[in-house]
Amino acid sequence: MITTIAVKGFRSLRDLVVPLGRVTLVTGANGVGKSSLYRSLELLSGTANGALVPSLARQGGLASVLWAGPEVISKAMRDGEVPVQGKAKRLEPVSLGLGFASDELGYLIDIGLPTPRRTMFTNDPEIKREVVFSGPLMRPASTLARRRRSVVEVRHHRWQQVMEGLPEQFSMLNELADPEQYPELLAVRRQVRGWRFYDAFRTDPAAPARQSQVKTWTPVMAADGSDLVPALQTILESAYAENLGSAVAAAFPGGHVYVEENGTRLDLRFEQHGLLRPLTAEDLSDGTLRFLLLAAALLSPRPPGLLVLNEPETSLHPSMLPALCRMVVEASRRSQVVVVSHSTALAAGLREALGDELEHHELVKDLGETLVAGRGVFDRPLWDWGSR
Ligand SMILES: Nc1ncnc2c1ncn2[C@@H]1O[C@H](COP(=O)(O)OP(=O)(O)OP(=O)(O)O)[C@@H](O)[C@H]1O
Ligand SMILES: [Mg+2]
Repeated sequence: MITTIAVKGFRSLRDLVVPLGRVTLVTGANGVGKSSLYRSLELLSGTANGALVPSLARQGGLASVLWAGPEVISKAMRDGEVPVQGKAKRLEPVSLGLGFASDELGYLIDIGLPTPRRTMFTNDPEIKREVVFSGPLMRPASTLARRRRSVVEVRHHRWQQVMEGLPEQFSMLNELADPEQYPELLAVRRQVRGWRFYDAFRTDPAAPARQSQVKTWTPVMAADGSDLVPALQTILESAYAENLGSAVAAAFPGGHVYVEENGTRLDLRFEQHGLLRPLTAEDLSDGTLRFLLLAAALLSPRPPGLLVLNEPETSLHPSMLPALCRMVVEASRRSQVVVVSHSTALAAGLREALGDELEHHELVKDLGETLVAGRGVFDRPLWDWGSR
């Protein structure tokens, strides 16, 4: 289980360390940094498949995503006694840090500005440092593998250099894949690669989920829901068929979902009480379609290690939320779940169902910086970024 997530210098997350539970609920007002936390987890997961540097470049490079406030916020700035301003000289190099720790292994990555050189790819940030460590906290004694710039060292009894010339755009997780030589790198890579993210499904008339879909076994629905129908049929042919049936019946009394073959394609059918013919994916209301997308995400027959949902309640009527809540609780028996939400009804439902098992973080903003309400630097999980 992942116990800690740490982010440094990414948008409004100047220096955030949050503990994760079996289910973690993240709430807070508009603009406090909830989606930024979601995005930072997505970036971290991108280290495993080489997506990190390209996706930072797509977001405008480090210059756009780096924390825009001062390097250090002093007490006098917080108290309003002096204006918010940066120091003439930085104390530390420009750095965006992402990391996680679990009971067994942890990982952190430190990304910095590119070294000036003759290239057109000036928006690509550089990976300056990576560390894989055992246990919850990076310490010299717990470090298993480390990368500085293009050199990777692994500890097998003593430190050994195992690679030089690793391009600064590539993560060592991606490049050192031999399971026998680097089992700890493989373990971290497997873990982060398995994380799954669902955010703001499209439900407009041209939405991918409403289009005709290919008949192929789909245990993991795509992030845009473009294979919703085969994903639902895969659930209907799995041990979770009943869970899907009861979730739909709870959300839409008298409702029933099934799938029809149409040559090499599959079509969705949704029967509702009072209608003479079933509805198709094109006919469904936005909320109905979104509920089915969430069901396909949460009831996947190949549950991920970590499932992260951003504002799943969007365009759902409050009467649907108990059914959504039940699916989240069910999913949490198979996966660790993080839910970013504005819905007080969903929060109340999760609290009632999970009690102390729910880790609830209310985010707030102070001088532009995202903080966890009621948690200071001293009562957050221990975390050490180390130095370059
Ligand atoms: N480079 C940056 N440095 C500091 N703050 C930034 C930077 N880029 C964006 N922000 C701030 O981060 C916030 C964006 O937060 P985010 O989109 O995560 O909000 P949210 O909590 O998801 O809000 P909503 O509920 O509206 O979706 C904005 O308030 C914006 O001002
Ligand atoms: Mg948001």
